[in-house]
Amino acid sequence: MRRFFLISLFNLAYCVASPLHVGQFQVASPSPSALVSPDYIQVPFRIMPPPPSSSRKPLQGPLVMAYYPDWVGNEFPPEKIDFRRFDWIDFAFALPMSDFTLAFDDPDNAPALLRRLVSAAHAKGKQVKLSVGGWTGSQYFSNAVNCTNNRQTFANNILSLYHQYSLDGIDIDWEYPGRQGAGGNVVNPNDSNNFLLFLQLLRNKLPPNARISAAVLPTPFFGPDGNPMQDVSRFAQVLDWVTVMNYDVWGCNVFQSWPKRALVRRL
Ligand SMILES: *[C@@H]1O[C@H](CO)[C@@H](O)[C@H](O)[C@H]1NC(C)=O
Ligand SMILES: *[C@@H]1O[C@H](CO)[C@@H](O)[C@H](O)[C@H]1NC(C)=O
Repeated sequence: MRRFFLISLFNLAYCVASPLHVGQFQVASPSPSALVSPDYIQVPFRIMPPPPSSSRKPLQGPLVMAYYPDWVGNEFPPEKIDFRRFDWIDFAFALPMSDFTLAFDDPDNAPALLRRLVSAAHAKGKQVKLSVGGWTGSQYFSNAVNCTNNRQTFANNILSLYHQYSLDGIDIDWEYPGRQGAGGNVVNPNDSNNFLLFLQLLRNKLPPNARISAAVLPTPFFGPDGNPMQDVSRFAQVLDWVTVMNYDVWGCNVFQSWPKRALVRRL
């Protein structure tokens, strides 16, 4: 991954009590005040410039990101976010359906909430991604990326939302390519390869300055043999950053996993 890397945490404050060095990335210690809400803690991170060939504007680090889940809408309205503390907010979640359209888990309230979030963020010069999937929203990813036609449909549907909600990027939270997550998810040994093809397509469809991120396990994506892939450098060409879901692991040394393995080999 040549460009950069993001570490995002929630629910694991102890894990960021002191700066952690991750390969070329330094994870700084967040101040307690860097909270959107007590459950959503974000960590500044250092980023690498994009390759010279990229048409995307280089990111300047560190950036701070937070998820804004639609279920906090009532108790924590988007207007209450202290945007001075964040660069990016990811709205969670849009769920891929069996026909590769996207649905909100709170269809009555989420669309208006997302619009308010985007307005509030843009008014402060900050940016919003829509996070697609999530733990309970990963049932149909595998089908949505399993052939050219499905990838086209799925990417076009995401592109529509991108424009409809004036977004600045898309976050893909597939839990997990090539491995069962919540139960009942479609899983295929080709998932990770298909995921890459899908991300390449999405990259080409979205405007050049749109950012694409992925929420990932502390290990690289699972390959056809069921093991973490040894080389995920091609993902780095299409993803702007990844967020490591280290809260799945309950330990600090998990930060070692990606750097030691393939992704960071190409940094
Ligand atoms: C792809 O997904 C569709 C469902 O949309 C399914 O009918 C088809 O069998 C899948 N193809 C492969 C190769 O898994
Ligand atoms: C995986 O991809 C290969 C090559 O495209 C294909 O021949 C195979 O049927 C796929 N396997 C599954 C389970 O979809």
